[in-house]
Amino acid sequence: MNFKDEMKEKVGEIEKILKDFLPEETGFQKTIFQAMNYSMLAGGKRLRPLLMQESCRLFGREGKELGPFMAAVEMIHTSSLVHDDLPAMDADEYRRGKKTTWAVYGEDMAILAGDALMIYAFETAARAFKETDRPDLVGACIGILAEKTGIYGMIGGQTVDVELTGKPVPEEKLDFIYRLKTGALLEASFMIGAVLGGADKGQTAVMGQVASDVGLAFQIQDDILDVTSTSEVLGKPVGSDEKNEKTTYVTLKGLSAAKEQVEFYSRRAVEALNGLPFKNEFLNQLVLALITREN
Ligand code: IPE
Ligand code: IPE
Ligand code: MG
Ligand code: MG
Ligand code: MG
Repeated sequence: MNFKDEMKEKVGEIEKILKDFLPEETGFQKTIFQAMNYSMLAGGKRLRPLLMQESCRLFGREGKELGPFMAAVEMIHTSSLVHDDLPAMDADEYRRGKKTTWAVYGEDMAILAGDALMIYAFETAARAFKETDRPDLVGACIGILAEKTGIYGMIGGQTVDVELTGKPVPEEKLDFIYRLKTGALLEASFMIGAVLGGADKGQTAVMGQVASDVGLAFQIQDDILDVTSTSEVLGKPVGSDEKNEKTTYVTLKGLSAAKEQVEFYSRRAVEALNGLPFKNEFLNQLVLALITREN
């Protein structure tokens, strides 16, 4: 099978796993379930669960605890998008090809849906305890997920991103923002996959570094696409960064230098993967494919 078909098949499987973990839309609080499921099922590349699964495969142990964590990381990622789109943040009305959660359910419900997805992710991840003979690994992974989501991870990065809106940002600080707001959840994906796959401490740390580079490259490419793509292809508005007066890699270094950086960090990530004693060719291909991703 070629890479594209393999990718399609894997993402199809992931969609099924995600659906299994979503709440039923019944009860007096059903609006929150509807808003959560609306944002989760709106589409999306499902990159984080995929990277988690492939990182697990790299180390070979059959991680049957993986499903709950794959769903959990996609829930947290989606919660970050629901909040990122709010009028108080990027004020965007399209996401994953549909109206944003706040535009459909109102700001109040979107705030609650983001909160709900973030905490339901941990409820979901904790289910892995029931299926495992390695509660130590599950516990470690819940710790990683929390740290990479919180003040030392995605939320910390979004904080600096929001605070510096409309202000000049030096490259060093921009890297900090990107490695946290975007890199941290990719670190969680690579590291949790590695831990459940049986990686040791050193190998897990390498996977974290690989993910941080992938995250930086991923966010720079996101900045590029905000300038070069169309809303049809992206499923979200283009020109969002300019509208919000964001300093990005494109405004700071120009388009062609930004493209070079995407390639540089992605290749460095693959080199580090190649330094490990195991190999997952699909994972290498996936990281390289992200250099030229169009959405
Ligand atoms: C968008 O992430 C937000 C960033 C971190 C740049 P994705 O580009 O992975 O969004 P989906 O999940 O495919 O919608
Ligand atoms: C947001 O970065 C990253 C998150 C943690 C949500 P952006 O604001 O650039 O993401 P998009 O372009 O709206 O997806
Ligand atoms: Mg933003
Ligand atoms: Mg945004
Ligand atoms: Mg963006």
